[in-house]
Amino acid sequence: MKILVINGPNLNLLDSRDPDHYGGNSLENISELLKIKFPLVQFIFEQFNGEDEIVDSIHKSSSNYDGIIINPAAFTHYSISIRDALEICKLPKVEVHLSNITNREKFRSISITSSQCDGYISGFKDYSYVLAVNYLMEIMKTV
Ligand code: DQA
Repeated sequence: MKILVINGPNLNLLDSRDPDHYGGNSLENISELLKIKFPLVQFIFEQFNGEDEIVDSIHKSSSNYDGIIINPAAFTHYSISIRDALEICKLPKVEVHLSNITNREKFRSISITSSQCDGYISGFKDYSYVLAVNYLMEIMKTV
């Protein structure tokens, strides 16, 4: 099983961001956590600060992966182009957020990208990613 994990803007500096929201680990730590927890899964971890790069990555994903985990970061709240790219992509997709986007500033409570994913997981810090992999592994068993 091969999973593409796409991370949006400012997540390259995750370990410098508010640990109360984001847990204090780096993206590399999260990538390592997934590899340790799921040794049979192949993860391709990507991080982009640009919207167009995320759109391109989603476009290229279809023939290469079994599923996508995406944390669009701030783009979650306003990127129609990422939302549309997710709509085109027919792979199983899970949106993740480290923080609980429903109990922060009002502008974060709206996700316009999650409607094009199977569902979204928010608020469990690093474990949001782990839970997303669990879901993808479960549905892979049934296909
Ligand atoms: C985030 C939540 C977003 O609102 C924020 O802009 C991020 C990270 C999260 O993982 O909690 O950069 O997606």
